[in-house]
Amino acid sequence: MIILGIETSCDETAVAVTQDGKIILSDLLSSQIDLHRKYGGVVPELACRRHIEVIGLLVKEAIEKSGRSNEQLNAIAVTMGPGLVGALLVGVSIAKSLAYSLKIPLLGIHHLEGHISAAFIEHEDIVFPSIALIVSGGHTNLYYMPQRGKYRLLGKTIDDAAGEILDKGARMLGYSYPGGPVIDRLAQKGDPERIPFPRPYRSSSNLDFSFSGLKTSLMQTLFKMGKAPEDYMSSHPDIAAGYQSAIVDTLVEKTFSAVQRENAKSVMLVGGVAANSLLRKKFLSAGERLGIAVYIPSSRLCTDNGAMIAMAGMSHLEEHHFSSLDLNPSPNLELMS
Ligand code: KG4
Ligand code: ZN
Repeated sequence: MIILGIETSCDETAVAVTQDGKIILSDLLSSQIDLHRKYGGVVPELACRRHIEVIGLLVKEAIEKSGRSNEQLNAIAVTMGPGLVGALLVGVSIAKSLAYSLKIPLLGIHHLEGHISAAFIEHEDIVFPSIALIVSGGHTNLYYMPQRGKYRLLGKTIDDAAGEILDKGARMLGYSYPGGPVIDRLAQKGDPERIPFPRPYRSSSNLDFSFSGLKTSLMQTLFKMGKAPEDYMSSHPDIAAGYQSAIVDTLVEKTFSAVQRENAKSVMLVGGVAANSLLRKKFLSAGERLGIAVYIPSSRLCTDNGAMIAMAGMSHLEEHHFSSLDLNPSPNLELMS
């Protein structure tokens, strides 16, 4: 089955063509990072306009690069939510027109289901029950999955998402958006013990996360140093390492508490923050210690992309779970079984 996957929920216009979800024939991304950088975060109106400018050409190019023709497409999968409503509307509109004109099924995909599906692209035989941690710019959600496509929410952030807290922390240090990769890079040269940060919400019986206190702690650290951020550049690696370590430790602790509480057989780590090198390393070693399989997509498939949406579309197709042509974006959509 040849599936076109379209993702426009936030600041990346992403389109991929896959065969049976697993074989990526083409995978294109038009990033808007430069557009939003000077504002320190995503500006919704600018994001929508840029999606409109690039989506048509990107779809055309993705189909051409895949070596298939429009007529060979079997279905169109598109992110229908959650996300920025105007941005979602761009992807949903082009997906509906294509599905209508080519007379093929339309598959509306939940963005988080897309992220989880990224794990299935490279790992064929995921063992269940599994615990899935989705860490992105907008979400930090922990799910129990008795099988593929079934989700029970165990915990989520009560304030900032993991990606958001990394982006904000980097910004406080004077770096531009997105801050996650910057903190990742800086931390590799730093000592995580030198400037300690609190591990928030530690109780293992509560699987919710809270990260906003870390911002206050970082602010206090910077205040105590008493200089402009660029004056203590030499401390940035240690600050980044301490800050990142607090986030990573919390994510590892809560996820593996969930594994033990739910008797899970595996863990999936997905979403943009799953590209973080320390987080990947700590998940893999915790899994090894407990004898639990840990599945993490390659970094390219952790951040938003069209292939993960096409992969989710493949399972909707197999289950005959089609969307109608009056599909509308749902900016606050919950992930349901
Ligand atoms: O999944 P994603 O691409 O978009 C959303 O659905 O939000 O995630 C974006 C987030 C941003 O906050 C970005 O800073 C973070 O993922 N991120 C990282 C890394 N690469 C991207 N965070 C930590 N380390 C990285 N290497
Ligand atoms: Zn995402």
